[in-house]
Amino acid sequence: MILLTGGAGYIGSHIAVELLEMGVEVAIVDNLCNSNRSVIERIESIAQRPVVFYEGDIRDAALLASIFEMCPIEAVIHCAGLKAVGESVTMPLAYYDTNVYGSICLCQAMQKANVKKLIFSSSATVYGPDAEVPYLESMPRGVATSPYGVSKGMVEKVLEDLGASDPDWSIVVLRYFNPIGAHPTGLIGESPQGTPNNLMPFISQVAAGVLSKVMIFGNDYPTSDGTCVRDYLHVVDLAVGHRASLRVLDSPGMHYYNLGTGCGTSVLNMVQSFIEVTGVDIPYQFAPRREGDLAAFWANVSKAEHELAWRAEKTLNDMLSDTWRWQQYAIVHGH
Ligand code: NAD
Ligand code: UD1
Repeated sequence: MILLTGGAGYIGSHIAVELLEMGVEVAIVDNLCNSNRSVIERIESIAQRPVVFYEGDIRDAALLASIFEMCPIEAVIHCAGLKAVGESVTMPLAYYDTNVYGSICLCQAMQKANVKKLIFSSSATVYGPDAEVPYLESMPRGVATSPYGVSKGMVEKVLEDLGASDPDWSIVVLRYFNPIGAHPTGLIGESPQGTPNNLMPFISQVAAGVLSKVMIFGNDYPTSDGTCVRDYLHVVDLAVGHRASLRVLDSPGMHYYNLGTGCGTSVLNMVQSFIEVTGVDIPYQFAPRREGDLAAFWANVSKAEHELAWRAEKTLNDMLSDTWRWQQYAIVHGH
């Protein structure tokens, strides 16, 4: 059985479906601070298999101890955390508390239970603003520009020191690029609270008529059309990447993988492609650059391709049409 922290969230829910569909038993622990209980039912409905769900906090040592006592956990996939970059600047303590202290609590509970296989949700943000593109796993971590980004680098360092202290640990650090899209059933996807900060949920809420137009932050970057370039990957491909990483947990030590497509797409191209794929008009306007944004980055994905035998399979059209299907379901069902 796999313990999946943050399994009711956007990425965790897709990982849960993938694991259940491959016949793996899943226990989820999530405090629902950025998700809701109905996600668990929707995971079960897609996979047609039950999930063990614990509503609670990864910082609750007694809860974690009881989960390890009650469930035959072999490995942990750790997605729980706070992820809003802007909010992390105004609430740094909450971010370090949940992301760093929460990860330490989890590792302590794992150590006590003698479960030493861990997959951690990290981010491309750890490469920092000065790294050359495409990003390679062998590059050093840079200085991330937000407390959120710093918290991810700090957890990576904690895990490295833990791995160095005890050769029995096997730790996979997955550095996600820009996950978008939703499950093709349209039953699970991203549900940002309030006005979205990220591009894809913003575009889809404009399409749904919730927001009036997309502001494109900057059109004077040194890129082909002047707008920023990112490596967007389908959340289902990302979830499959976790499934592929489980095998690596049989080899002790630290393992790092970029999960992206290896291709960059500009913001303008994203908006125009969304219009083409869905047939829905998206009013947009150019606006000043957003502070802290990098002009362009994407992944070198050779390591994941060779060692995990994984590559992102879904197209940009899949990402956009699946996002739109989910957005329409979410509006109707109030998610
Ligand atoms: P999400 O907010 O949808 O999911 C995170 C889940 O963790 C939520 O369900 C939330 O309720 C839960 N949670 C938060 N604090 C908790 C705590 N203290 N105890 C228990 N549960 C808690 O976010 P997501 O997009 O699914 O991201 C999952 C992970 O991937 C995060 O660690 C995030 O930093 C990382 N990541 C996300 C992206 C992205 O673009 N979405 C990119 C890179 C890395
Ligand atoms: C951001 C975070 C990153 C985090 C990721 C997922 C920053 C600097 N980086 O990545 O650490 O891992 O989200 O949570 O915040 N854009 C617009 N208009 C919008 C929204 C976005 O033009 O309304 C542009 C942005 O300027 C950017 C691109 O779209 O160039 C993608 O933005 P976003 O989806 O927020 O992702 P990142 O900034 O790459």
